Amino acid sequence: MEILTTLEGMRQSVQNEKRRGRTIGLVPTMGFLHAGHLSLVRISRAEADVTVVSLFVNPIQFGPKEDLKTYPRDFDRDAAMLRAEGADYLFAPTDEDMYPREYRTFVEVRELQDRLCGRTRPGHFRGVCTVVLKLFDLVEPDCAVFGQKDVQQALILKRMVADLNVPVRMIVAPIVREPDGLAMSSRNTYLNPEERQAALVLSRSLAEARAMIDAGERNAGRVLSRIRSLIDAELAARIEYVEAVDPDGLMPVAGLRDGTLIALAVFIGRTRLIDNLIVS
Ligand code: PAJ
Repeated sequence: MEILTTLEGMRQSVQNEKRRGRTIGLVPTMGFLHAGHLSLVRISRAEADVTVVSLFVNPIQFGPKEDLKTYPRDFDRDAAMLRAEGADYLFAPTDEDMYPREYRTFVEVRELQDRLCGRTRPGHFRGVCTVVLKLFDLVEPDCAVFGQKDVQQALILKRMVADLNVPVRMIVAPIVREPDGLAMSSRNTYLNPEERQAALVLSRSLAEARAMIDAGERNAGRVLSRIRSLIDAELAARIEYVEAVDPDGLMPVAGLRDGTLIALAVFIGRTRLIDNLIVS
């Protein structure tokens, strides 16, 4: 695996690979990797000849009061994990190269960026879209792999790619969970042992929702109240949102149907966690 830190180095390496006729898969990450990230690498390796994993803690997607400074980092461990997983390139650009002082250009996906997580994280998806479009331009991947864990992010990026005619095939991979159900996240390291236990209420309430739906329930309100009451019963948990929305406009729906997204954001202590399910 080759480690690249300059934009020019990245460009040249992919151009070389392309000249040899190889297809490129890109997996964008912010590092502190876990099995969820590695599942995306595996998919990229199956879908493309060469896999590029980017590792960049993108400052412009963090709000002023968010965890940019404390976001967990361990470059050597990440590099070793990616090498073991068979990634071909690790691209880790610097903040200064990605956003030089004169930087002024941003990408917004209107409306979708304001729903769900966007309500409490203004500017977040603008930062995500901007960095991902820059990565697409540097790496020119044939396909890119994202996780359903961040389902709003994946839907917004798909919208961006369609709207801007970006020739990248977007792949969305299933949520990888810990054995007890907690969706894997780099931010799970913020949880102390009691909070780690309390955090199970996210996946548990979604599993309960899934069971209600499997039993024939189609009323969104009833399913959402059940989720809310389970989370409210957990003392360490505070709901930010629990919503059932259509996957195109992310607008609330009253009835559940195939494709409806049930998404939630919950604070466990000071740590904000998200999880979701797609009705099928
Ligand atoms: P990060 O949180 O590091 O996640 C990188 C990718 O891994 C995202 O596509 C995310 O959805 C996926 N992922 C995270 N946890 C997962 C899990 N448990 N199962 C499956 N996939 C999972 O998302 C970002 O970084 C950034 O916003 C980024 C897209 C890199 C732009 O900066």
